[in-house]
Amino acid sequence: MQRLVIEGEKKLSGELCVHGAKNSALPLLAACVLARGETVLGNCPKLSDVYAACRILSCLGCKCVREGEKVVVNTDGLTHFDVPDELMREMRSSIVFLGAILGRLGKCRLSFPGGCELGPRPIDMHIAALRKMGAAIKEEHGTLDCDVGNGLHGEKIVLSFPSVGATENIILAAVTAKGTTVIHNAAREPEISDLARFLNSCGARISGYGENSVYIEGVERLGGCEYDVMPDRIVAATYLSAGAVTGSEITIKNVRLSDIEAIVPVFEQMGCIVCPYSDRIYINAKKPLKAVRTIRTMPFPGFPTDAQAVVMSALTKAKGTSIVVENIFQNRFRHVDELVRMGADIKAEGKVAVIDGVRRLYGAPVRATDLRGGAALVVAGLGAEGTTEVCDIKYIDRGYENIEKAFSSVGGAVKRIQE
Ligand code: UD1
Repeated sequence: MQRLVIEGEKKLSGELCVHGAKNSALPLLAACVLARGETVLGNCPKLSDVYAACRILSCLGCKCVREGEKVVVNTDGLTHFDVPDELMREMRSSIVFLGAILGRLGKCRLSFPGGCELGPRPIDMHIAALRKMGAAIKEEHGTLDCDVGNGLHGEKIVLSFPSVGATENIILAAVTAKGTTVIHNAAREPEISDLARFLNSCGARISGYGENSVYIEGVERLGGCEYDVMPDRIVAATYLSAGAVTGSEITIKNVRLSDIEAIVPVFEQMGCIVCPYSDRIYINAKKPLKAVRTIRTMPFPGFPTDAQAVVMSALTKAKGTSIVVENIFQNRFRHVDELVRMGADIKAEGKVAVIDGVRRLYGAPVRATDLRGGAALVVAGLGAEGTTEVCDIKYIDRGYENIEKAFSSVGGAVKRIQE
């Protein structure tokens, strides 16, 4: 078991570089299944979820090799169509392999992803769309058995909610289906556009991505390509929150400003000076933080649910009352009790959290309960007086590459301790 030990209230200064996005790297690795031959993914983050995706590719018969920042996937040996239960359990988002495996092999068997730390994780929209496109799907004993018979065909799919995972699975299944698929009310997250651009570089014909309706014209086959994973917008939000809670001045590099347009104004409302330029963003939080207007998590281009917890950590020290409404997941305030242990004044009920800013946070032993909630505890620890010890950091390692090294490089005192 490992822990992070943080000596708080150190000023941060200098430059932090954002790594590749987990939520883009995972669907891109799944998409490699569709590309014949070799694909090279650059800027591929070194995260436990990415390693799990590589293990899935190996289980399917692909060669998957890391070379520094790159992951090289060769699908020539791809023969297996089942994903072992332990890998499905390790990473629930591995459901995105379903559309890709079906598109390439016409069959797929994997276990039902079930619930997760954020609450129930249904996949009803994924299944309904794939069935409409011609897949026969049997759900038995926790397993999904899928077969496309004579192949998938293009369809008009209307999603009842712009689900990121469902949009990705439908795109993956549709790129080699017969005819054209249209997804209405598609998710517009930047990771969807990254997936579409990657697939187009492999020979797919996808348009409308980043908008409400995505059009996918099926092609015969895809080939490999070289592609760089987009920067992680949630890591950027985490670094901004760390700058704010510590009253520091830092520059964050490798940021795509169009991806964080809903996040930056929150820091401006807190009283921080935020200057975006080129692929960087400078934050100066030398003035005391102020409470902000209600933050409501929404599908993109709204405020992202994944940034809710880290921004809340900064708000714990913002003078006045801030309100956060979580509209995407049912159980996404589990970090609140841990922040309260550190002296934060937060009341959460249902989907609303009311944060009354306090002058000081105090270091305490706390437990990460999920990926972004865990990162929020590290952010709070950086801004707290004394020592914070965060346990269960396996969650944090799913989405942050060496978080202790990143914060230490700008003057934070964060150490990883092996018990
Ligand atoms: C992805 C992200 C996750 C982010 C989320 C919302 C990845 C690997 N994960 O998750 O970090 O928090 O988007 O931006 O990219 N839903 C259904 N039925 C379905 C599918 C979804 O009811 O078939 C519900 C979910 O329970 C949830 C909401 O829709 O309440 C949003 O889920 P979705 O957009 O699908 O998120 P994920 O793709 O799982």
